[in-house]
Amino acid sequence: MAQLVRIPTLKTTDDFRKHVASLGINLPCDDSIESGSHSPLAKPVEHVRFNGRQIGNRIAINPMEGWDGTADGNPTENTLRRWRRFGQSGAKLIWGGEAVAVSHAGRANPNQLVVAEHTRAGLAQLRAALVTEHVLAAGSDAGLLVGLQLTHSGRYCKPNSHTRAEPKILHRHPILDRRLGLSADFPLLTDGEIGGIIEDFCRAGRMAAELGFDFVDVKHCHGYLGHEFLGAHTREGKYGGSFENRTRFLREVVQGIRAVAPGLKIGVRVSAFDTVPFRPDPALSANGKLGPGIPEPFAELIPYRWGFGVDASDPTRLDLAEPIQFLSLLESLNIVLVNLTAGSPYYNPHIQRPALYPPSDGYAPPEDPLVGVARQMDAARELKRRFPNLLFVGTAYSYLQDFLPHVAQAALREDWVDSVGLGRMVLTYPEIFLDAAQGRAVQHKRICRTFSDCTTAPRNGLPSGCYPLDGHYKTSPAAVQLAAVKAKR
Ligand SMILES: Cc1cc2nc3c(=O)[nH]c(=O)nc-3n(C[C@H](O)[C@H](O)[C@H](O)COP(=O)(O)O)c2cc1C
Ligand code: SF4
Repeated sequence: MAQLVRIPTLKTTDDFRKHVASLGINLPCDDSIESGSHSPLAKPVEHVRFNGRQIGNRIAINPMEGWDGTADGNPTENTLRRWRRFGQSGAKLIWGGEAVAVSHAGRANPNQLVVAEHTRAGLAQLRAALVTEHVLAAGSDAGLLVGLQLTHSGRYCKPNSHTRAEPKILHRHPILDRRLGLSADFPLLTDGEIGGIIEDFCRAGRMAAELGFDFVDVKHCHGYLGHEFLGAHTREGKYGGSFENRTRFLREVVQGIRAVAPGLKIGVRVSAFDTVPFRPDPALSANGKLGPGIPEPFAELIPYRWGFGVDASDPTRLDLAEPIQFLSLLESLNIVLVNLTAGSPYYNPHIQRPALYPPSDGYAPPEDPLVGVARQMDAARELKRRFPNLLFVGTAYSYLQDFLPHVAQAALREDWVDSVGLGRMVLTYPEIFLDAAQGRAVQHKRICRTFSDCTTAPRNGLPSGCYPLDGHYKTSPAAVQLAAVKAKR
C-alpha cells in the first residue's frame, strides 16, 4: 500500500474531499458547521418517540468501557470520571455507557462492571453523575435517553485474571479456536447453560429499569456471546443452524426482559457485517513491528460458515442479506433502537475501529483507515434506506479527526443515519460536537489521532484511557507502565 496520507496534513474540506475521491470512496462532507437550532446535529430525532419523548439531538455516545472497575464489578473514580465526561458531551443519546456483564463469569476482564445486587448503588451513581453533568452542559435533561449495555463475553471471557482466558463458546471456530488454544473437545455451552444466561440478562434488565435507565442494549457485536449466536451456523440444536435458531437467544432475552420490566425499552448494538479474522503479515513483521493485516488463510473453509454478514464464498467481503433479515426481525419485535458497528476488536480491528496506529494485539493498517470509516457509513446508509422507521446510530467516525463534525453534519443532513455515535473521540474531546454546533472553534489539540493506547493499555492489564492526550492519564502511574510495555515491543 502507498504511504498513507495523514488527516492532519489535509488543511481544508476541499483537501479532504480530494483525498476521499482519490481513495475511490464516498464520504459526505460539509464546508462549514451550522450553529444554533438549525444545526443538523442539534435537531431532535423526529420519527421515533419514547413514552411520548423525543431524543433531543443527533449526537450519541457509543459505549466505551475502561477496564477500570473493582474486582467485584463496581465502578471506581476513573469509571465515574468517564461517565461524567459522557454527560459533558451534551449528547442526548447515551448508548449504554459501557459494556456491563450480566454475571461474573461473563466478564471480558477482571475489571469489567457487573450487574448484581452489590453493584446496584455503584451503577446508580454512574447514571446520576452523567445526568448531572449533562444538565450543566446542555441546560436540562429534556430529551436525554440513557441506556445500559448488557453483555456476556462468550468466547472472550476473562473474569478472574488478565492472563487467564475462560471462554464460553457456542460452536467450534476453525481459526479462533486455534488462536485461543481450544482443543477439539473443548466443551460448548449447553442449551441449559444458555437458559441460565438468558435469566441473567432478564435479571439485569429488571435492575436497569429499577435504576432509571431508559433502555438496555442486548449486545450483539464484536465477537462476544450475542454476536457469536448470529454466526452459529454449525451449532446443533435449537440455538444454531437456521436463522430462526441463531436469533432464538435474542427473542428469548427480549421476551424475558419485557416480562419483568415492561416499561424498559430495548436496543441492539449489532456487528452488521464481518470478515474472516486478520493477522499481521508475518513476511512484513520484524523487530516487534507489526506488519500490515492480511486475512487468515481460508481457501479450505469455503463456504465460510463462521460469521454473520460475511460473504460465504469470499469471507473478506461483507454480505448484508442476513443483517437485513435481522433488522426485519427487530422491527417485528418492536425494537427501534439500533446501533450499527462491525467486526471485532479481537480479530479484525481495522474493520471495527479504523486507526492509523495498531494496538499491541493488532496489525498495521491493511487499507487507508478512511476506507474502513466509509465501509461502516455506507452500510449504515443502505440499512437506514431499507428501514426508515428504525433509529440508527452510526459508528466509526473518530478516524475522521478534524473533519468529524463536517462529515457527521453532512451524513445527518443527507439522512445516512439518525444519530452520530462517538467512540474514541469521547475519551479525548467529549465536547467536540457541542463546540461545533454552538459556533465555538474546534480544539484541534484535543482530537483523537487513533494512537490506540486506549486499547494497548487494557491488553496489557492496565486501565483504558487516552494516555497521549488526556492529562489525567498522561501523568498517571499507569502511563509509566504503558511506556515500559511499548518500549519492549
Ligand atoms: C477503549 C475502547 C473501549 C470500548 N468499549 C466498548 C464497549 O464497552 N462496548 C462496545 O460495544 N464497544 C466498545 N468499544 C467500541 C466503540 O464503541 C466503537 O465502536 C469503536 O471505537 C469505533 O468507533 P470510533 O471510531 O468512534 O472510536 C470500545 C472501543 C475502545 C477503543
Ligand atoms: S489513546 Fe487517545 S488518541 Fe489514541 S485512539 Fe485512544 S482516544 Fe484516540
